[in-house]
Amino acid sequence: MSIDLTTRYLGLELAHPLVPSASPLTGDIDHIHELVEAGAPALVLPSLFEEQIEHDALAIHFSLEMGADGFGEAPAGFFPDLDDYNTGPEDYLELIRRAKTEVDVPVIASLNGVSTGGWTLYARILADQGIDALELNTYRITSDITASSEEVERSYLELVETVRKAMDLPLAVKIGPYFSSIGHMARRLADAGADGLVVFNRFYQPDIDLETLRVVPNLVLSDPNELRLVLRWLAILHGKVACDLAATSGIHEAADALKALLAGATVTMMASALLRYGPTRLGEVRDGLAEWLLDHGYESSDQARGSLSYSAVADPGVFERTSYMKTLTSYVPTW
Ligand SMILES: Cc1cc2nc3c(=O)[nH]c(=O)nc-3n(C[C@H](O)[C@H](O)[C@H](O)COP(=O)(O)O)c2cc1C
Repeated sequence: MSIDLTTRYLGLELAHPLVPSASPLTGDIDHIHELVEAGAPALVLPSLFEEQIEHDALAIHFSLEMGADGFGEAPAGFFPDLDDYNTGPEDYLELIRRAKTEVDVPVIASLNGVSTGGWTLYARILADQGIDALELNTYRITSDITASSEEVERSYLELVETVRKAMDLPLAVKIGPYFSSIGHMARRLADAGADGLVVFNRFYQPDIDLETLRVVPNLVLSDPNELRLVLRWLAILHGKVACDLAATSGIHEAADALKALLAGATVTMMASALLRYGPTRLGEVRDGLAEWLLDHGYESSDQARGSLSYSAVADPGVFERTSYMKTLTSYVPTW
């Protein structure tokens, strides 16, 4: 008996639903080969940042987001040299060219812009390189306290509308979880032209060093518990938004990928676990997923997708409130 894991994401036919998301691994051609050998059915390249193009400001990105010693928990063997990561437009275009000619899976480029003009111009440039789809990495922290939620949301929608008009390729939008009404926002993003939503971007939280009295950025790889937030929203959004859903954050094992699939993910993405355990992790998770589905009587991953989403719940609001009360009252003190 075999199981059909084929998945359609952003209109692309994938061999299965486990996709390496943007990380230093997909930014290096040797690791791209390893990922494809391990079974990657598609690749999301690291983001090209507008600042890198405009000012070659690689240092800005890393000093904001990553601490010099922020990777202590990753085995050095799988962590590419970060000097080679997000190095600017020429290297990025070369990476696309090599990936497109050397491996036979769809290549999804990722863009993180600042100005609307920048987003659209580079979306077109990337599209001209023969990528199969584009992911917009909308990593934004609204620190302007005079900006209303409507203004912020409008800026996301205008971005998606403008990029949508600028190119014909399938478009995914990677969003964070910090909207007052994620469901409504998700619908508006789909209406604006997103073919897929990637939920959720991880926002790296800075810390304060009490010795130096400085704000210290650091990057910690994810923990599987972070998947819970993603599961909730996959379950709410599945069947209610007219676009694909990619799960990212906390998928480390087959069980995590299965939960995301059952909640409604079209594809499940991995970065931290691949950085921690190496590219072969992807094949292990795919095999574990296939085995569980077979053992539980499924014929395909499509059949399992969304079977535990909220589509089956008459009033998700009441369900959420009841679950909240049950969770709090079920706690048993241990002292
Ligand atoms: C070192 C590192 C670099 C990353 N670079 C990018 C990037 O360039 N663009 C992007 O959209 N996400 C980037 N991510 C986020 C991942 O693609 C992913 O969404 C996030 O880590 C959550 O998934 P995980 O739990 O599997 O790590 C990066 C993550 C890590 C750990």
